[in-house]
Amino acid sequence: MRRIRAQLGAQVLRVSLLCSVFVLGACGSPAPLTKVPTSAPRPSITRGVWPRFSEVRSWPPASEPFTNRGHTGAGPVAVVRVSPEARDSYAHLVRDSALPDDSVVALFHLKADQRPGPVYVMEKSSGTWRFLVLDPDGVVLAPAGPTGQATQGCHGCHADAVADFLFGVPQEP
Ligand code: HEC
Repeated sequence: MRRIRAQLGAQVLRVSLLCSVFVLGACGSPAPLTKVPTSAPRPSITRGVWPRFSEVRSWPPASEPFTNRGHTGAGPVAVVRVSPEARDSYAHLVRDSALPDDSVVALFHLKADQRPGPVYVMEKSSGTWRFLVLDPDGVVLAPAGPTGQATQGCHGCHADAVADFLFGVPQEP
């Protein structure tokens, strides 16, 4: 019985492979017009100003502006703003710190000519951080579906941060 099922499975696989190789258009998914490399950035799913943008922008900086070291190409200067209830823990981050649910940490980049750059946001809910990229006007660029695929790179690097996926602001020597 198991063998038959396995054979059947293999057949189904073969048929669907054939299907996708030879008659892609007929299989329900439209044939791609051009070959798009899989690493190409996905088109943004959500476009629109992030609802909390003006609120977050109004919070005072968590520290003096500092040199951005984590986000290549986003701008040389970083200013971090943190939701009021999490500000203190963020400013004194130690290895086992954890920010409460609903914390928001937003890093505002500044370009070399002082113009605003992209804003990188981390928002915690149910113990999980969601990563977002906004343009200087707060429009969501890299979304953040529940699975956060588009911002996987954020997650990977931040997993090696100081505590709770956070690097914290540079500490005084
Ligand atoms: C290669 C590593 C790396 C990647 C990838 C990365 N970050 Fe960061 N991030 C850092 C570092 C390092 C800092 C600390 C600030 C600094 O030194 O520039 C930081 C700081 C931050 C902060 C301030 C909170 C904190 O950790 O102290 C936010 C918010 C943030 N990043 C969001 C993002 C988002 C959103 C993405 C993905 C679009 C992302 N980061 C991708 C390394 C990274």
